[in-house]
Amino acid sequence: MKSYDDDAELTALVEPYRVKVVERIRLPSRSERAKSLKSAFHSIVYLNASDIYIDLVTDSGTSAMSDQQWAGLMTGDEAYMGSRNYAHFQDTVRAITGYPHVIPTHQGRAAENIVMELLVKPGGVVASNTLFDTTRAHVHNVGAQPVDLVGDCLWDFQVEQPFKGNVDLERLETALGRHHEKMPFIVVTVVNNMAGSSPVSMANIRETKRLADRHGIPLLFDACRFAENAYFIKTREEGYRDKSILEIAHEMFSYGHGCWMSAKKDGLVNIGGFIALRDEALANKCRERLVLYEGFPTYGGLARRDLEAISIGLQEGITEEHLRHRIAQVAYLGELVERAGVVISRPTGGSGVFVDVDSVYGHLSADRLPCVAFTCDLYLEGGVRAAAAPFSLVRIDPKTGELAPRVFQIARLAVPRRVYGKSHMDYVGLAMKRVKEKAHLNEGYRLVHQPEVLGHFFSKFVPCNRASETGQEPV
Ligand code: F0G
Repeated sequence: MKSYDDDAELTALVEPYRVKVVERIRLPSRSERAKSLKSAFHSIVYLNASDIYIDLVTDSGTSAMSDQQWAGLMTGDEAYMGSRNYAHFQDTVRAITGYPHVIPTHQGRAAENIVMELLVKPGGVVASNTLFDTTRAHVHNVGAQPVDLVGDCLWDFQVEQPFKGNVDLERLETALGRHHEKMPFIVVTVVNNMAGSSPVSMANIRETKRLADRHGIPLLFDACRFAENAYFIKTREEGYRDKSILEIAHEMFSYGHGCWMSAKKDGLVNIGGFIALRDEALANKCRERLVLYEGFPTYGGLARRDLEAISIGLQEGITEEHLRHRIAQVAYLGELVERAGVVISRPTGGSGVFVDVDSVYGHLSADRLPCVAFTCDLYLEGGVRAAAAPFSLVRIDPKTGELAPRVFQIARLAVPRRVYGKSHMDYVGLAMKRVKEKAHLNEGYRLVHQPEVLGHFFSKFVPCNRASETGQEPV
């Protein structure tokens, strides 16, 4: 029997907070859920959030703020220029990243837009362990080519490897050898969200920097979930056990020239982001763009009170008790999903649990849209919303240097921070069991509408059941 001789282990699954305010949630009846799905074109994007019981579509901007953050909002100094909240925000970001120039943005992709526009040229190549889809879209938007360098271990869902989010160094060397003249920077995404939310090790970051330095190419972090990544380094990588999250973050950021961050993740806020840089001249160019798109450099598209909430959230987000519980909660959900007979990416990572959709809908070919089947069934069976889409990476062959897209059917059960408790996770496990039991009855879906940019967000579907094929109303 396991002995709990350590407080940290004993309390890992206990929420490190108590509840002061509650928000009602309601499970609509099964027939209401079926009706909602139909009027949402069988896309979870078009569902009304009030018709959802447990919302696991994203961990972004969905955190519950603390009493301290709410109190911080009341200290907002809404001066257009030079607000005291900006000074606090700047000090906080500097203290965590070590980068002197701090530029607020309203969220992560606003930062991506500015960085890409300034640094990436048409025909350029932006290589990363894995680019998030908005980052990828911004690379395309300036006429450049995204390249993903994550290793093959990503596809061995069941094989436990502590740092599946790493940059594959052989791929990086090949990419540098072929494209270094076209590469304005290299992005390390921590944690590697689209790659099972798996972390990147410090050793890998160090080595990535060493290789990039050979060609004088700067390294930038997409740092949305830097605190979770630091926690994984502390708990999974040798030599970091006795270091604080802040010390680990300092070392990690020390290898980069700068970062951008959507504070909607590890910043524990509902809106906000920033760019932080070493280089003053580049920072000033960013500020000029910022005024054009976002607002003055001391607020960047946010209310000043929002900057205060971010400053406090960033500090809370690097506490060990928060991270220990967060990571344990995601791992617990992973265990429940596995117990339902579903294959997940192991070991579980930061933002949520990543599901191998083919392990549930192996009977559906890709053109029958198994990801849509998964999200529809999970909503129908349990009122639970998850995100799923065929995810396409553009990988470089480490031997030939050829670029080849690889698509895989993946779903993510993202866990919002400080929002749901253990019983909600237990419930999701039960819903997943129902989904798995009935999945064979699902005959798949057909795409009837898809816009060009980030089309998966706005696609509409119809079920491919016999009734629809004979022209009758789908159920
Ligand atoms: N980079 C990563 C790694 C992300 O996960 C996200 C957002 C962004 C950049 C963009 O930030 O949303 O503030 O503009 N991820 C969310 C998600 C949407 O669900 O994973 P944003």
